[in-house]
Amino acid sequence: MIAGFNIKTIDDAVIQNKRVIIRVDFNVSLSNEGQITDDTRIRQAIPTIKKLLQQQNKLILISHLGRPKGIDPKYSLRPIIDRLTSFVSGYTVKLMTDFESDNKQHIIADQKKNEIILLENIRFFKGEKENDSGFAKKLARMADIYVDDAFGSVHRSHASIVGIANYIPGYAGLLLQKEIEMLSKITKNPQRPLIAILAGAKISTKIGLISRFMKIADYILLGGGIANTLLQVQGYQVGKSLVESTANEAAKQVLASVENSPCKLILPLDAVCGNLQDPNIKPEVHPIAEIPSNLAIYDLGPATEIEFDKVIKQGKTIVWNGPVGLFENQLYRHCTDTIYDSIISTENAVTIIGGGDTLVAISDKKSNDKITHISTGGGAMLEFIEKGTLPGIDALTVSASGLGSDRNH
Ligand code: 3PG
Repeated sequence: MIAGFNIKTIDDAVIQNKRVIIRVDFNVSLSNEGQITDDTRIRQAIPTIKKLLQQQNKLILISHLGRPKGIDPKYSLRPIIDRLTSFVSGYTVKLMTDFESDNKQHIIADQKKNEIILLENIRFFKGEKENDSGFAKKLARMADIYVDDAFGSVHRSHASIVGIANYIPGYAGLLLQKEIEMLSKITKNPQRPLIAILAGAKISTKIGLISRFMKIADYILLGGGIANTLLQVQGYQVGKSLVESTANEAAKQVLASVENSPCKLILPLDAVCGNLQDPNIKPEVHPIAEIPSNLAIYDLGPATEIEFDKVIKQGKTIVWNGPVGLFENQLYRHCTDTIYDSIISTENAVTIIGGGDTLVAISDKKSNDKITHISTGGGAMLEFIEKGTLPGIDALTVSASGLGSDRNH
C-alpha cells in the first residue's frame, strides 16, 4: 500500500499469468525527424514492465503522445517500438493500430508469451479524453488487471486513466508509487525549512500552486514571467520583459496573501537584461528598480543568485519547477545553473525537481544522482502538490477497494 493513500501497488498482490493493461506515459519529446530526444519516461516505466513480465503476465501497454485531434500519423507511437524493445530483451513489441475493430481482436487472443502489445496513441480515439464509459469498458475487456504507471498523466480524467479502473481491479505501478511517495515528502510533514523555487511564463496558471506553497512552505523564490508580473504590480518598470498583463488581479492576490502568511516570498533583486532583436546589445546587469525601458529581463542577476543561494542552502526540503531565465541561450542561463549548483550542494536535504523545461535545463548536468527525486510529471507534479491527490490516483483508490461502479463487464 502507498502510505496515506488507500491504493494497492503491484507489490501488494500476486499478479501472475494474467492479461495486464499498463497505462504508461510515453509522451516523450521527438525531433522533427521523429527521433526520440529524451527517453526518460520510457526508461522509468521499465521496472514495472519487467516485474510483470517476470511474473508470466501478458502485457498490453497504453499511452498517449502529444495532443492529436483525431488520427494523425505525426503522433503515432511507432517511434517508441525500437527503444522499448531495446529495454526488454527477449520480447518483441507489436503495435496494435485499432484495438476497437473486430478484425483486430485476434491480435489479443493470439498474443505470444514473448510479445508485448502497444496500443496506438490512445488519444486517436474520441472516447479517451471524454472519459467515455463505453470506451473505458472496451479497454477493460482486453485484460484482467489494470496497472497505472503513468504519473505524468494522472491529472487527466481520461478513460485509460480514470474510467478503466471502474471495470477491472487497478493497482499502482512502481513509478507511480515512487512519485506519490517522493512528492508526499513535500505535502505531508516536510522537513523544514521547505523551499519552493518556481518560475514560468504565467502567474495565472500557477496561482493555486503558489497559494498552496504559501500555506506549507517557509520560502518561495520566484523568477520568470511570474516574478516580472509581480514586480510590475508592485510598481517597478520591467521594460520589455515577459509579463502577463491580464493577470494583475492574480498578482495582487499573491502579494496580499503573503502579508498574512508565515511564508517569505523572495523576488529578484537584480536581473541580466538584453534585447534579442538587437545583437549589438550585450547582456547588462541592472537592479530591479532600474530596468531600462528598451531591454527585457532574460536572467536573474548576481545579487539575486547570492540571495537565492543563501536561502536554498538552509533548506531541508527543496522543490524546483521552472528555469529562471532563457536557459536555451548560453548568455542567459547562469542563474538557472547556480540554482542547480545550490540545490546539489545542500546537505541532508530532500531535493525534488520536475517540469519539462527544468528537466531539459538539467539534462546534461553531471550530478543528477545527487538529486533525491527527478519527477516525470510536469503538470501532474504541480497539481499533486497543490491538491494532494489527482483523478488517476483517486480512481485507483476506488478500484482497489472494490467500489467501482461496474465491475461485471
Ligand atoms: C505531460 O507531458 O505533461 C503528460 O504526458 C500529459 O500530457 P498532456 O498535458 O497533453 O495531457
